[in-house]
Amino acid sequence: MDYRLPATVVPKRYDVRLEPDLASATFAGEAVITVEVETTVTEIVCNAAELAIQSAALTRDSTVPIHGSITLDEANERARFVFPAAIAPGEWKLTLRFTGTLNDRLHGFYRSTYKDAAGVSHTIAATQFEATDARRGFPCWDEPAFKAVFGVTLVVPEHLAAVSNCAVAREEALGDGRRAVHFADTIRMSTYLVAFVVGELEATDPVMVGSTPLRVWSVPGKKHLGRFALAAGAFSLAFFERYYGLPYPGDKVDLLAIPDFAAGAMENLGAITFRENALLVNEAAAAHAELERIADVVAHEVAHMWFGDLVTMSWWNGIWLNEAFATFMELMAVDAWKSEWRRWTTFGVSRSAAMHVDALEATRPIEFEVGNPQDCRAMFDLLTYEKGASVLRMLEQHLGPDVFREGVRLYLERHRYANAETTDLWKALGDASHQPIPAIMDGWIFKPGYPVVTVDLDGTGLKLSQRRFQYLAGDTDSGQRWRIPIVLRAAVKRGYVERRLLLDGDEATVALPTKADWIVVNSGGHGFYRVRYAPSLLKKLAGAVAKIAPIERFNLLSDAFALVQAGLMPAVDHLDLTARFTAETDRNVWTTLNTSLAYVNRLIGDELRGGLAALVRHRLGEKVSLLGWEVQEGESELDRQLRGDLLRTIGTLGDDAEIQARAREVYARYREDEGSVEANVLPAVIAIVAAAGGEPEYTEFRERFKSARTPQEEQRYLYALAGFRSPELLSRTLEMTLNGEIRSQDAPYVIRSLLGSVYGRGLAWHFVKQNWQAMARQYPESAYTRMFEGIAGLVGAEWERDARAFFTDNKIDLGGRTLAQYLEQLRVAVAFQEREAEPLAAYLSRQKSR
Ligand code: BES
Ligand code: ZN
Repeated sequence: MDYRLPATVVPKRYDVRLEPDLASATFAGEAVITVEVETTVTEIVCNAAELAIQSAALTRDSTVPIHGSITLDEANERARFVFPAAIAPGEWKLTLRFTGTLNDRLHGFYRSTYKDAAGVSHTIAATQFEATDARRGFPCWDEPAFKAVFGVTLVVPEHLAAVSNCAVAREEALGDGRRAVHFADTIRMSTYLVAFVVGELEATDPVMVGSTPLRVWSVPGKKHLGRFALAAGAFSLAFFERYYGLPYPGDKVDLLAIPDFAAGAMENLGAITFRENALLVNEAAAAHAELERIADVVAHEVAHMWFGDLVTMSWWNGIWLNEAFATFMELMAVDAWKSEWRRWTTFGVSRSAAMHVDALEATRPIEFEVGNPQDCRAMFDLLTYEKGASVLRMLEQHLGPDVFREGVRLYLERHRYANAETTDLWKALGDASHQPIPAIMDGWIFKPGYPVVTVDLDGTGLKLSQRRFQYLAGDTDSGQRWRIPIVLRAAVKRGYVERRLLLDGDEATVALPTKADWIVVNSGGHGFYRVRYAPSLLKKLAGAVAKIAPIERFNLLSDAFALVQAGLMPAVDHLDLTARFTAETDRNVWTTLNTSLAYVNRLIGDELRGGLAALVRHRLGEKVSLLGWEVQEGESELDRQLRGDLLRTIGTLGDDAEIQARAREVYARYREDEGSVEANVLPAVIAIVAAAGGEPEYTEFRERFKSARTPQEEQRYLYALAGFRSPELLSRTLEMTLNGEIRSQDAPYVIRSLLGSVYGRGLAWHFVKQNWQAMARQYPESAYTRMFEGIAGLVGAEWERDARAFFTDNKIDLGGRTLAQYLEQLRVAVAFQEREAEPLAAYLSRQKSR
């Protein structure tokens, strides 16, 4: 099926007037589209979905209108207008009148609702047009390459705020209780970036960034929660103007918190929309991780104003040009804003998550063919975002930051207000660096997967060899090779020697002056590859963990666990390795350690859980007692977050009775005096109390979830409802995912969380099977895909068969290769379980008795 529109008629400008009626959840509209007819035609085809089009008329200069017949093709989301006479080439105006409904699926032009402090319900109308849903708001050429100028008018009740991409040009009272708000013309841009928001929203005072006013919008009563985002927004806007060397392409920036929102945030030019927890926060009461999330999302979307909005990929196969770049730039900006957060080290967690998908047979290249909207949705994944950003970082480090930035500037300047392809980016980076970019990069962008570099001793030097890393390939070699920018560091007598090379064949030897004490490959940690050390090298490096950088320790553990998942290292060797990290100070290293132990927990039998918990207590105990429960003199924000992370793990996965008792005390104290508990400790306390809690705690948390004063507080209690252990209580949480108590924007994630819990997964899976039809009707499509990610937690041969049957029987396709990836992740876990059952049982039962 061909989804692409013909280019015989091309839009230049849209004058769109929309009249939403919030009470009846409908809208009426008129679009006057200035089109260029390229060759003589008798029909015009554009996109429209779930719209009724009442009339279509073509005019040129002042001639009488030619009325067209209208056919809607709902399956292909198109409208076809056939005219009684041939339409000659040249400029025409197509006037369309249409009506539609404000839907509840969080896409197109949709309805979001919230209750105020008095319990009164209010409605907001908002848009989410990416990737292919502008066609639900007004008929249009809904493909990114059909850029046009948009002149928007919103007709709204007098007391409601109306926001669109540009500043208000003028307003006029209509005398019927409504006013027409006319917005200034946009730049030439793609349809998916158009936005309208209407409702009782309040804005902060603007902060001026150069000549650009920046504001945060929210539902009434939450304005004070916008300050942190304003600071993040102001910093990133100024940062990007400097980095890109081009002024911000719009006339204002509004950051809007929408109570119901499918994604995290959306980069509509000048009217960036967010889910509330990605924008609003009380800085004084927030954990580090919660603040980091807001800084990330704000910086990411602001980065898009250039990468994505000013210059746009020609088609969705190139979405990485938007998303990988925005992710890369988000990290650059946040790192510049808060260098003490060590954002590039934290990025290790995301990089390894992308490597987890990219080690599957069912992975795909970063740039990948896209046809229908479903395949398009599947592109917004870890490969596009995190692998994409990783390989950009690897290239930036290889070329040097200044040369790289120069290439980026060239690219933006050459393609502004237009579209571009990956090859255009290579060209600009090549012109700036005088290096053969395609030769280095094509293997990372156009080919699936990534390499594992094996390191062996070769005299006093080293031998490096590469092959593709795949979990289910065993020890076979696919023959695929990459050009890998390798940096390695060897500890020799007087300090270190560093070696840089581009490994582009099967193998290479690296000479070292003398025999090294230890060697770390992927020094600095920017490479997108795994490292497999010869046993003697691994042993030496494991003994030197105190001397290497946090990201290098992170990679050491993360690579080791990946090798275990691939069957290339015994699981117990990895568990032994974790014993080297009991004094670890970096929270990212702890994250990979804790995540791998939680993974193991999902594949062992109930009889071994006590042994694993004992192991967790052993690994974490020393650091937990060192950190204590109270903030210590001179501690950094990261130390405080680490305390929260470790308490949470030892109190849940480690099932530590003392910690659980203490958490209950701390929570009791919190109820008396909120200021008594540190912001990073509180989320952990809530999670621990849930894990060890019963009916009274459940009732309390459910109440707190409903009356939460900040989005963060709401999140903590919501996810805590999935962290209880009693089946009866978890069943109640499951009920809430469908009865409206949990918003449809959150429900799929709560289910995913339950599928990952050894106490909740059986129930949750049963519930999904029973209620799939209702979920498919209620949840935003982009989110139920995320829900199914949770099936990787159903580790058991029986569950695996059942899951496969379910997707086949229900003919569920998640677009692209998504479903195949989820099922393969499950296969990897079940294979791990079968391979390691005996040694793990022996190892873990020893833990218990010590
Ligand atoms: N363009 C996306 C939002 C989006 C995603 C729209 C998928 C349609 C389909 C936006 O820039 C984005 O990437 N948002 C992220 C947050 C970001 C910090 C990674 C999100 O929504 O999770
Ligand atoms: Zn993005």
